[in-house]
Amino acid sequence: MSSIGENGADFLVVANRLPVDLERLPDGTQRWKHSPGGLVTALEPFLRTHSGAWVGWPGVADADVDAFEEDGLQLHPVALSSTEVADYYEGFSNGTLWPLYHDVVAPPAFHRRWWNAYVRVNQRFADVTAKVAAQGATVWVQDYQLQLVPAMLRELRPDLRIGFFLHIPFPPVELFMQLPWRTEIIRGLLGADLVGFHRPGGAQNFLWLARRLVGLEPSRGAVGVRTRPGVVQVGDRTVRVGAFPISIDSAGLDALARDKEVQKHAKQIREDLGNPKKILLGVDRLDYTKGIDVRLRALHELLADGRVDPGEVTMVQLATPSRERVEHYKQMRGEIEQAVGRINGEFSTVGHPVVHYLHQSVNRRELTAFMTAADVMVVTPVRDGMNLVCKEYVATRYDLGGALVLSEFAGAAAELTSAFLVNPHDLDGVKNALEAALTLDPAEGRRRMRALRRQVLTHDVDRWARSFLDALGTQSTI
Ligand code: ADP
Ligand code: G6P
Repeated sequence: MSSIGENGADFLVVANRLPVDLERLPDGTQRWKHSPGGLVTALEPFLRTHSGAWVGWPGVADADVDAFEEDGLQLHPVALSSTEVADYYEGFSNGTLWPLYHDVVAPPAFHRRWWNAYVRVNQRFADVTAKVAAQGATVWVQDYQLQLVPAMLRELRPDLRIGFFLHIPFPPVELFMQLPWRTEIIRGLLGADLVGFHRPGGAQNFLWLARRLVGLEPSRGAVGVRTRPGVVQVGDRTVRVGAFPISIDSAGLDALARDKEVQKHAKQIREDLGNPKKILLGVDRLDYTKGIDVRLRALHELLADGRVDPGEVTMVQLATPSRERVEHYKQMRGEIEQAVGRINGEFSTVGHPVVHYLHQSVNRRELTAFMTAADVMVVTPVRDGMNLVCKEYVATRYDLGGALVLSEFAGAAAELTSAFLVNPHDLDGVKNALEAALTLDPAEGRRRMRALRRQVLTHDVDRWARSFLDALGTQSTI
């Protein structure tokens, strides 16, 4: 176990967000709530069982918060001004990098002002981390918002062991090459001792770019999953580049799903929905990469074709509010709400809407109850680095019930091959898969779910973190 002594922390996670988000209430008071997104879902259980420190933004502009301890975890807030939130977070991170790395499903914008803010804020994260890390500590930098931190931190603290993990897809090189600051990003990442991606393809792309943009001589062999990392020599340092598919606290969710209260809640949800024959469920941040529109379009057509009976099938879509001031998100929200309205307008009866849409976040227990109640989980992103929701659904189905419809363009599809895999661009294919999942023979369903569970329960987030930290060469000290 590591400790946080007077001389700083031995193990630090550095992420754009802290695991808790500061919420300012209308009456002027404030409180901490759980931060949104898969990065926090995945890392928090690991950090809570290994003492360490977390450097991150508290989620609101101009928050002046001192370092504090929560449940044995040392939290070090990094303040952002409202201009920095607009330029670094909403701008370069979510208006440039997010769409560029997700196969330009929305057009990325390139603004020098955004880039300058990204450099400035990355430097601030590196400065704070350099101050709170113990001599020789392990620092694990997370995600696309902080790609310059590894090199900046190495400059300040060459004694540190630095890992970097990207939680979103790393794009094809032709798309990455559009970025005016492409070389700076690659040099920033090369400051780490180990650079990790979800899939070998991302690692391979990065190695190619290290050759093309920085003139290095990376290894040429194929990168494996958790094995055979690529290697690139940067001066007298060796940087390793590997694939580490992230996962969830599978056993924790499995146990929660077995909880009697959660099961009672699941029954209640079914009843509240009017005991439909089948429940379809979607759970996502309200993001244009998630394909919420795709599943609504497919459902609309199935209802219109008479292949789905609105008296028998109900869909629940839980959508966490996300990045609400970014233009593409505003637009997408409008489109989704219109699509829900259209389906309900055409196919609902009084007291029985076909689609229940909640633009809200629910807590862990409630989410597990929804998953327990759902007959078909619908996960249809047009692009997703991994997608944890599908793994969560599998972990909750200890009864081997339910069916999973999963996009081929989620990183998880490479592992969850017994799901109903769909191409979200092929609407007929999505419709067929939804129909097949709704009419699935129970024995076939159990066979599929058993195979899915074997994968998810044996490859949990602890295994992910251990494999990354082993490759970084620090596991024994954490
Ligand atoms: P991303 O990180 O892009 O948001 P993931 O699927 O990897 O996507 O992770 C999303 C996480 O957020 C999951 O743990 C999921 O359960 C949670 N989540 C998403 N939407 C909701 C919601 N409406 N209420 C509660 N949790 C949600
Ligand atoms: C994804 C990203 C995370 C991010 C999360 C929530 O999981 O990979 O880095 O924290 O979405 O998005 P937000 O912009 O609210 O932090």
